Amino acid sequence: MNNLKISIIGAGNIGSAFALGLQKSGKILPENVMVTRRNLEKLTTFSEFGIQTTADNREAVRFADVVILAVKPYQAEEILAEIASEISSEKIIVSMVTGLKISKIKAIVGNHVFAFRAMPNTAMATCESMTCISSEKNCPKEIATRVTDLFSAVGETELIDEALQEASTILGASGIAFALRYIRAATQGGIEIGFSARTAQRIVAQTVKGAVSLLNERGEHPEGEIDLVTTPKGVTITGLNEMEHQGFSSALIKGLTASYRKIEDLK
Ligand SMILES: NC(=O)c1ccc[n+]([C@@H]2O[C@H](COP(=O)([O-])OP(=O)(O)OC[C@H]3O[C@@H](n4cnc5c(N)ncnc54)[C@H](OP(=O)(O)O)[C@@H]3O)[C@@H](O)[C@H]2O)c1
Repeated sequence: MNNLKISIIGAGNIGSAFALGLQKSGKILPENVMVTRRNLEKLTTFSEFGIQTTADNREAVRFADVVILAVKPYQAEEILAEIASEISSEKIIVSMVTGLKISKIKAIVGNHVFAFRAMPNTAMATCESMTCISSEKNCPKEIATRVTDLFSAVGETELIDEALQEASTILGASGIAFALRYIRAATQGGIEIGFSARTAQRIVAQTVKGAVSLLNERGEHPEGEIDLVTTPKGVTITGLNEMEHQGFSSALIKGLTASYRKIEDLK
């Protein structure tokens, strides 16, 4: 994978996170990554890492084996039209743009190229993303593997049906914000019961990391792990039940489904 050349068109929040994660992973040479945006001054940090920068999207497409599209949805079609003539059949295009269908990408750039959708989250920057990837129906396995290997460099991947891409946007990409809000709220509670903000956040963040490690390493259902820390008539179950009386699980599910309704409305 070291020799694979990647161009990221639109190095904003998520495009930058990807470039930084690839750099951190060490699996792609910095000189094999090119990032673009119109405001080149904001790409200075990348140049310092040895990552190539340009404001010319067509140059970036010529450079790359894999072209990543990471611009806002309303910018995507115009940029695809701009780069279409540079996308030869040996290149792969991967769109991280919310809502942009594979059929739409191919309608603009042509049927000769393999197109994918990928929905990562900003934890790509620390190589801990969850990226849900969809390919077109007849994509050869080795091409799909090239794309999943690339995203595996910056976290975990899951191949999903394209019809689930909006759901993955909510659960995985927006999910970063939902998880961080839990951490912030728990930290606020921690301050109220005696810790400094800094210590409370450290305790909460490591506790969340520990909870995730229990699920990942032991493969149990979350409720099984909860049973292990809830003594009959004890303090944990008292707090947990109070959270549920106040609508904890319900609020989360309602928030997720509200986000999902919103993304479906935007289609
Ligand atoms: N943020 C997330 O957590 C996340 C997660 C998954 C997917 N996504 C998706 O990723 C896409 C980008 O989101 P974002 O949050 O990263 O947005 P963003 O921060 O606004 O990044 C978009 C970037 O595109 C650049 N751009 C605009 N027009 C361009 C052009 N003609 N040529 C080259 N670059 C251009 C902009 O820079 P200039 O203005 O300097 O050109 C900007 O830096 C969206 O479609 C979003 O749905 C985001």
